[in-house]
Amino acid sequence: MARFGFVVGAVAALSACRGPQSTFDPAGTESAEVLHLFWWMLGGAVLIWLFVMGLSVYATKAHPKAHSERTGTRLIVWGGVAFPVVVLTALLAFGLQMMPGFRAPADGPRIAVSGERFWWRIHYEASDTPGVAKTLSGEGVPSANELWIPVGKRTEILLSSPDVIHSFWVPNIAGKVDTIPGRITRIVLEPTRTGTFHGICAEFCGDAHAQMRFVVKVVSEAEFAGRVEAERAPATLLDHPGRLAFEANGCGACHQVRGTASAGLVGPDLTHLGSRETLGAGILPVTTDNIQRFIALTEHEKPGVQMPSFATLPPEQTRAMAEWLEALK
Ligand code: CUA
Repeated sequence: MARFGFVVGAVAALSACRGPQSTFDPAGTESAEVLHLFWWMLGGAVLIWLFVMGLSVYATKAHPKAHSERTGTRLIVWGGVAFPVVVLTALLAFGLQMMPGFRAPADGPRIAVSGERFWWRIHYEASDTPGVAKTLSGEGVPSANELWIPVGKRTEILLSSPDVIHSFWVPNIAGKVDTIPGRITRIVLEPTRTGTFHGICAEFCGDAHAQMRFVVKVVSEAEFAGRVEAERAPATLLDHPGRLAFEANGCGACHQVRGTASAGLVGPDLTHLGSRETLGAGILPVTTDNIQRFIALTEHEKPGVQMPSFATLPPEQTRAMAEWLEALK
């Protein structure tokens, strides 16, 4: 019975290792290599642990008498110096030979991603060195919180932040790299299969750190090109009561809806919010109800966010805004 429980527990634990946000389910060249390294290190660690445990059993049970000084010295020199030096050097060499592959140049699109409090500003078609100011000036094709990348290509992500340090991490595809104010850091994502994955902020950055997520869509090159064109287009649904409410309440001071007078760059670009999967940087599915709730109860849904709650607005206004934003495909 105990054995059955162990098997059930092990299967449950291992199955939790798969999924869209797991380093154990690699969908990128870098994550596959890192997992490979992990298994070698784990295997080595288990062997060394068994060896050391064996020695302690030997010393306490099988041969409990004191060794001669010569034997003791030999044990320390071989087991305590030579053995760790050899093992650690081998591991270092194994890890280092992976580095050139990680550093190989990109052959795919270049996308700028800025860590904001607490969401991700995205610009497709970024230039080589987009400073934060350049990104804010609207260079490239703006989007937010949902990153589309082509499968089989090495996409270069240029990372920045206007104020605090975040860390950009898509566990299934690659390692993590910090976004550092005043600097451009880089990571290359080379996904090996299509699918939807989850990215997260991996560096504590403030109240809503744990709610600073994003969706990663790995698609074919043709689909990627189509998505960038769709993102580039201005909003098409302009004749809507929600647009009037949005503009009358000053939402455009912080948010941009291209094709309208709203051109704020403080918060996420909402031009095609309805075409995204999630809202509030990966925390809620995009539905009319959720958008309305997020507008009215922003600080409740996402504590620490810079946007205030608009709980005092009449519900018919927030409803109209939500319907309009949901319809911006
Ligand atoms: Cu951004 Cu943690």
